[in-house]
Amino acid sequence: MIRRALGVCYYPEHWPESQWPEDAARMATAGLTWVRIGEFAWSRLEPTPGDLRLDWLDRAIATLGNAGLRVVLGTPTATPPRWMLDRHPDMLAWDRDGRPRGFGSRRHYDFSHAGYRAECARITRILAERYGANPHVAAWQTDNEYACHDTVLSYSPVAAAAFRQWLAARHGTVEALNEAWGNVFWSMEYNSFDQIGLPNLTVTEANPAHWLDFRRFSSDQVVAFNRVQTEILRAHTSAPLIHNYMGRITEFDHFATGADLDVASWDNYPLGFLEDRSDEGEAWKAAFQRQGDPDFQAFHHDLYRAVGRGRWWVMEQQPGPVNWAPYNPAPLPGMVRLWTWEAFAHGAEAVCYFRWRQAPFAQEAMHAGLLTPDSRDAPGLAEAAQVARELGNRPEVESFAAAKVGLVFDYASAWAWATQPQGRDFDYFRLVFAAYRGLRQAGLDIDILPPDTADLAPYALVVAPGVAAWTPVFRAALARFEGRALLGPRSGAKTEHMSIPAAMPPDLPALATRVARVESLRPGGAIPLTGGGAFHIWREITDGASEVVETTADGEAAVRHAGNLTYLAGWPDGPAMRRLMRAAAAEAGLPTLDLPDGLRRRSTPAETFWFNYAAHPVPLAAPAGDPTLPAELAPAGVHRVVKG
Ligand code: GAL
Repeated sequence: MIRRALGVCYYPEHWPESQWPEDAARMATAGLTWVRIGEFAWSRLEPTPGDLRLDWLDRAIATLGNAGLRVVLGTPTATPPRWMLDRHPDMLAWDRDGRPRGFGSRRHYDFSHAGYRAECARITRILAERYGANPHVAAWQTDNEYACHDTVLSYSPVAAAAFRQWLAARHGTVEALNEAWGNVFWSMEYNSFDQIGLPNLTVTEANPAHWLDFRRFSSDQVVAFNRVQTEILRAHTSAPLIHNYMGRITEFDHFATGADLDVASWDNYPLGFLEDRSDEGEAWKAAFQRQGDPDFQAFHHDLYRAVGRGRWWVMEQQPGPVNWAPYNPAPLPGMVRLWTWEAFAHGAEAVCYFRWRQAPFAQEAMHAGLLTPDSRDAPGLAEAAQVARELGNRPEVESFAAAKVGLVFDYASAWAWATQPQGRDFDYFRLVFAAYRGLRQAGLDIDILPPDTADLAPYALVVAPGVAAWTPVFRAALARFEGRALLGPRSGAKTEHMSIPAAMPPDLPALATRVARVESLRPGGAIPLTGGGAFHIWREITDGASEVVETTADGEAAVRHAGNLTYLAGWPDGPAMRRLMRAAAAEAGLPTLDLPDGLRRRSTPAETFWFNYAAHPVPLAAPAGDPTLPAELAPAGVHRVVKG
């Protein structure tokens, strides 16, 4: 059973204490039940080293708790106070150009710094001992948005030393490392681990195997950093432990971090992400400027449901214009409600808005809250309160069964292709997201799968584009799988050390396909497909005994079948992706739709939702093939059908 709830992010240290009770009462009146606090408050908890001032936090928690709110307490480790740098002058991460990053914003630390890790353990223990059994503290958040502001890869001496230790543990001997990386090339062989540096600042490109190991190491450092906190918290509390991840962040393996946490959460800023992190062109951005990309939120909801092993939240939900994207429009009326319902449709337990009151000072003074700086209601508040009313006294919903479509997402592949894109536009997230969009356009529900998923039996269709190297577990799962699997492009194209596999890509005998050559395509260089649409960005020249079921206009195999496996020998553009995903679903025996842009569907055993992301009404009954539905859905419209 999932109990849906709303919440808000609050900074008691930003406001006079006399204002807290009224704030708490207004939150409760609006129907909010969770309040996250504390994650940036270190300078007020410990103004100088060892001088702990927790009395105000005691009172803030009591005030919020007594108003009926449940507190998510954040550890403040994303914002070490200025004095911390005097204690640990070498704790800053270094950028790729070899410069330390400065104090004066946030996330100014190196994941590898042992001294800073010990400080994080210390403050976490202090908070855990004091609040671990506090009845109002019902969840914990570790740090804040690992990786945000490009903070995972650090090129500091501290990171270099930790990397050498990591390499020694991974490879055992330097000879083994030389062999694995292929260091005979360009006389790059090392005589000892002590000689190995970081892959930045080399004369020309560094060995891709060097980069891949550095990225793996950097991801492991995030996992280890987080684990320092979870181990301490576990000893003092039984409340769930959560981290708030971000959108389109691939620098660390969220599945690995998530294994140490109880709930995954993410910070959902649809309009900021559309402006800041979309590969789509100007026309698309203009069409969705006040609504957000119709698939970006859902993708992350499904991703973080997987990272949280079924349990996930939106920890921060955009409530109005943000301050950090190139352009910051206001949401179309109704979108704050739509985004909230969409999260619930994908299984969120909570949606918390960021933030309660807009701050009149500092970096985020231009970022909307649920209240304006003078404490009046901002537009987002009414929409949040509307969802609270709509949840009413029946906020529970059945837990979800698996979807019928599984889409693999593999962080290591993102690192492989960031290291060796072989063409400027080859980006792993972009490729997987394009497949996701194609599946959503067909009206399908999707589970995101980690790359070592052992059991594919719940799925009729499994899609795995761009998986650089198969995990042994996934190979075995595929061999047992009786549904339809769509693999490629560029899947099985590498070994774990970035070499070309001896068996040649896609390195899967059952596919009876060999990728003999590849090429990346420049904008304007798309190659039409005989069935419609084109390959853009990437295409492969293949041979083998598999059956060619579609070709490119220049006569090469585009789609190959071998038993229940399909291999895609290129990167389909939008129209081709839409068509090919529908076709794959049909081959898997799944009914499909052909939804207009803007209209999206999400169905679970308990409910079916229709969402309109378009700024104009869209037809509903006709594309849904269901005459019982309304003929159209208004802009920002949500139509919910409760089953049974
Ligand atoms: C998030 C962050 C918040 C706040 C917000 C502004 O990325 O976690 O602290 O900065 O963005 O949109």
